[in-house]
Amino acid sequence: MAPPPSSLFLLITLVSSYTWSCGGAATPASPSPTASPAPPASAARSSTLDPRQLIALQSMGFPTAKDPCGLPSPHDNATACDDAAPFRHLVSLRLANCSPDLDLPTTALRALSTLRSLSFLRCPLPAPKRLPGPLAGSLRSFSCDASLRRLTGVWLSRLQNLTDLSVVGVPVTASGPAIVISRMRHLRSVTISVTNLTGVVPHHWHALDLVHLNLSSNLLKGPIPSSISVLGSLQTLDLSSNALAGTLPDSIGDLADLKNASFAHNSISGPVPDSMSQLSALIHLDLSSNQFNGSIPKFLSEMKQLKFLNLENNNFQGVFPFNASFVRKLEVFKVGGNSDLCYNHSRLSSKLKLGIARCDKYGQPVPPPPDRSTRADSDYSDDGSDDESGDGGSGGGSHHGPSKLVLGVAIGLSCFVFLIIFLVCLSKVCG
Ligand SMILES: *[C@@H]1O[C@H](CO)[C@@H](O)[C@H](O)[C@H]1NC(C)=O
Ligand SMILES: *[C@@H]1O[C@H](CO)[C@@H](O)[C@H](O)[C@H]1NC(C)=O
Ligand SMILES: *[C@@H]1O[C@H](CO)[C@@H](O)[C@H](O)[C@H]1NC(C)=O
Ligand SMILES: *[C@@H]1O[C@H](CO)[C@@H](O)[C@H](O)[C@H]1NC(C)=O
Ligand SMILES: *[C@@H]1O[C@H](CO)[C@@H](O)[C@H](O)[C@H]1NC(C)=O
Ligand SMILES: *[C@@H]1O[C@H](CO)[C@@H](O)[C@H](O)[C@H]1NC(C)=O
Ligand SMILES: *[C@@H]1O[C@H](CO)[C@@H](O)[C@H](O)[C@H]1NC(C)=O
Ligand SMILES: *[C@@H]1O[C@H](CO)[C@@H](O)[C@H](O)[C@H]1NC(C)=O
Repeated sequence: MAPPPSSLFLLITLVSSYTWSCGGAATPASPSPTASPAPPASAARSSTLDPRQLIALQSMGFPTAKDPCGLPSPHDNATACDDAAPFRHLVSLRLANCSPDLDLPTTALRALSTLRSLSFLRCPLPAPKRLPGPLAGSLRSFSCDASLRRLTGVWLSRLQNLTDLSVVGVPVTASGPAIVISRMRHLRSVTISVTNLTGVVPHHWHALDLVHLNLSSNLLKGPIPSSISVLGSLQTLDLSSNALAGTLPDSIGDLADLKNASFAHNSISGPVPDSMSQLSALIHLDLSSNQFNGSIPKFLSEMKQLKFLNLENNNFQGVFPFNASFVRKLEVFKVGGNSDLCYNHSRLSSKLKLGIARCDKYGQPVPPPPDRSTRADSDYSDDGSDDESGDGGSGGGSHHGPSKLVLGVAIGLSCFVFLIIFLVCLSKVCG
């Protein structure tokens, strides 16, 4: 089975590199490096790319007019080559903004098995049926962003030596993330996001050095398994915008390096586990739009690195536990949309605009007045007293500003009209 295709492949390679040497007669390219010791600089540099790889690039519609080893553009097509002699080889290739009818011939892909990094950005061409084995095994990094139309878990799972996998904005058909990643033991960073991926968060982990895990914006269901704690190096965990349910496992507190955690937009319920107090490296915590309940844990305010905290749209209860200096220290803080939560107005000013109700003396939320606009003054004077207890400012005052202005203008205008009428009458009387 194996020998005929590979000998055919060799033949094609020989023929095509021969064709290339003839076709490229204008450039002094030669398979033998000793034959042309000092060719002109530009030609020399481009001609040092392995001719098979140059043909492969050309057959994929990749621009090769300039030195194909020197395309460092950050947003477009890009390459990187090694320094091997006599021919350099591609180690990194990015195809960007390709036309949808571009073809990726298997022969071309075979010739690219020196690649360690391959990425597609906005290249909506059909995915090749399978990547040739040598290329699949050689890749350390694979990225597919709004490209290749549709991928399967099995297709991706063949890229066993990956350390970095990123698939964003491409539908991925698989029974779950486990199919994709369970054979990739060297993974350090995984993003499979906006792929409509179904299934559950994996229970068994094989890539124990994982640092970034991003499975956001998919259709994942079920609970977050407590076995996630085996990923002891995890710094980023983004499971937002799925359909995850159940409670957060206590073992989450074992992820000691966690810096960025988002569980937002799921159906996770129950309390925030006490074990989270051990996550002292947290910078970014997003629990928004779930069904977390119980009280907001005070320990969050002892997290020294924390800059972003979003607790909005949950079922948190009781008295808001943080003081104003903690809230102001955060770059982003949100807690609105928790109807059973309230703040103690003798300790916090309404100017913090937390978006939650005040507590009554029993620590229950005071229901908002039926209609603020019709019962103006008594309500505002309450808020006003709050403001005085704070450190002064414009919160309540600015609310009165616009209406006073409107009133002033109205009075001024009517005086003016009155004056005109008066003058007209006066002139008639005089005339
Ligand atoms: C980038 O490469 C793709 C695929 O080879 C090609 O279709 C596209 O025209 C190239 N873009 C530029 C700006 O050269
Ligand atoms: C992964 O890389 C190793 C050596 O770096 C190689 O021996 C192995 O064949 C590769 N795996 C695959 C699936 O190609
Ligand atoms: C996911 O499915 C929805 C609804 O079927 C569809 O609108 C959306 O385009 C899909 N997303 C991707 C990345 O295919
Ligand atoms: C996860 O991936 C999405 C891409 O869809 C990105 O927007 C988001 O910022 C990533 N999350 C983290 C924590 O980097
Ligand atoms: C955390 O992830 C969010 C996206 O979910 C991103 O916007 C933010 O910059 C990340 N913060 C850090 C500190 O990595
Ligand atoms: C939180 O919700 C769970 C159900 O999701 C319920 O069993 C539990 O009693 C609630 N806890 C509090 C403090 O309300
Ligand atoms: C506010 O809370 C933090 C953390 O709980 C605490 O360290 C700090 O001393 C408090 N500040 C004031 C002014 O009470
Ligand atoms: C609000 O704070 C004051 C002063 O710290 C305290 O005496 C009172 O009991 C608190 N009220 C509630 C409902 O927690």
